[in-house]
Amino acid sequence: MAHKMIGRRFVLGLALAGTVAAVAPAAAAEEVVNVYTNREPGLYSATLDEFTAKTGIKVNAIFSEQGLAERIRAEGENSPADVLITVDIGRLEEAVDLGITQPVQSEALESAIPAQFRDPKDHWFGLSLRARTVYASKDRVKENALTYEDLADPKWKGRLCTRSFQHQYNIALVAAMIVKHGEAKTEEWLKGVKANLAKKPSGGDRDVAKDIAAGACDIGLGNQYYVGLMTNGKNEDQKKWAEAIKVILPTFKDGGTHINVSGIVMAKNAPHRENALKLMEFMVTPDAQRVFANVNYEYPVRPGIEINPLVKSFGELKPDAMLVADVGKARAKASELVDRVGFDR
Ligand SMILES: [Fe+2]
Repeated sequence: MAHKMIGRRFVLGLALAGTVAAVAPAAAAEEVVNVYTNREPGLYSATLDEFTAKTGIKVNAIFSEQGLAERIRAEGENSPADVLITVDIGRLEEAVDLGITQPVQSEALESAIPAQFRDPKDHWFGLSLRARTVYASKDRVKENALTYEDLADPKWKGRLCTRSFQHQYNIALVAAMIVKHGEAKTEEWLKGVKANLAKKPSGGDRDVAKDIAAGACDIGLGNQYYVGLMTNGKNEDQKKWAEAIKVILPTFKDGGTHINVSGIVMAKNAPHRENALKLMEFMVTPDAQRVFANVNYEYPVRPGIEINPLVKSFGELKPDAMLVADVGKARAKASELVDRVGFDR
C-alpha cells in the first residue's frame, strides 16, 4: 500500500516506545499526534499547521485512500495511530465495528457538535457536513425546490442520472429514507427512482453534472461540494459541467435535507491520547471549522460558522433532524433493498 505523507516523517518507533511522559522541557518539544486519514492532505495542511503552531504538538499524518481502519486493526496494540479522520457514516461505523475506536468524553466536543452529528456512544464525532443534493439542468428544469420522494415521480421518467446506488453516499440516502418511511415505502421509492433512470447508474457525482451538461439527463444526485470543486478547479471541462447545472437542496417530505458527515475517531490504542484529544477539540474550534469546511466546500459541523459563498448560494441548508447514527444502522438494510430492486442493473 502506498502512502503519501504530510507533515513530519512518520516514525514507527513511536509505537514501540510505549512512551508517554515528557521528562525535560526539551522532550516536551517532541510532543506528537499521529493522524491516519483518507482525506486529501490538502484539506488539512492549514488546519494542522495551525494546531502545531498553537500547541507545539507535531502532527504526523499518513494518507491512504483505502484500508486505514483495517490497517489499524492489523497493527493491533502496537498501532501508532492516535486518530482516524475519514468521510461518510459508513466508514465511521466500520471503524467502530472493527473495534479500533474508543469512546471519548469531552465537554468541548459535545458543546460544539450538535448531538445528531456525533455517536451517542461517543466513538465518532462529525467534523463537517455534506448534503445529498439534486443537480438539475439550468435550461430544462424549472423546479427550484424538490423532495427526495419527488425523485420517484413519473414526470422524471428517462430524465434522471446517478452513480451506483450501492455507493456509500446513496446507501446513506436510502438508509435515511428507511429511517423516515420504513422498508416497504423505501422499496417502492427505489423502484420509482429506478424507473426514471435515463441510463444505467455509473461514474461519480461529477459525471452526473457531465451527463446533464451533455443532455443525457435533466436531474441527478450529487454532493454539494463537487460543484465547488468543479467550479473553482483547474479542469476546464468540469467548469462547463458545473455551469450547466443548478443545485437544489431537497428535503424529505415533512423533513429536512439528508446529511452525511466527515468525522474523527480516537484509536483504541492511541499512544498519545492527550494530544489526540487536543487535536479533536481543536478541529471543532471556530477558526479550524471555518478553514476546514471552506477548503472542501462543506458545511461546518459547528453551528454559526460562516459558509463558503458558493455553497451559500445553493440556499439555506435545513438538515433533517434524524441522528446520523440511525442512518448508519440502516445501511445494511438499505444495501439489501438496492440489490433487491436491481437498481444498478
Ligand atoms: Fe466525495
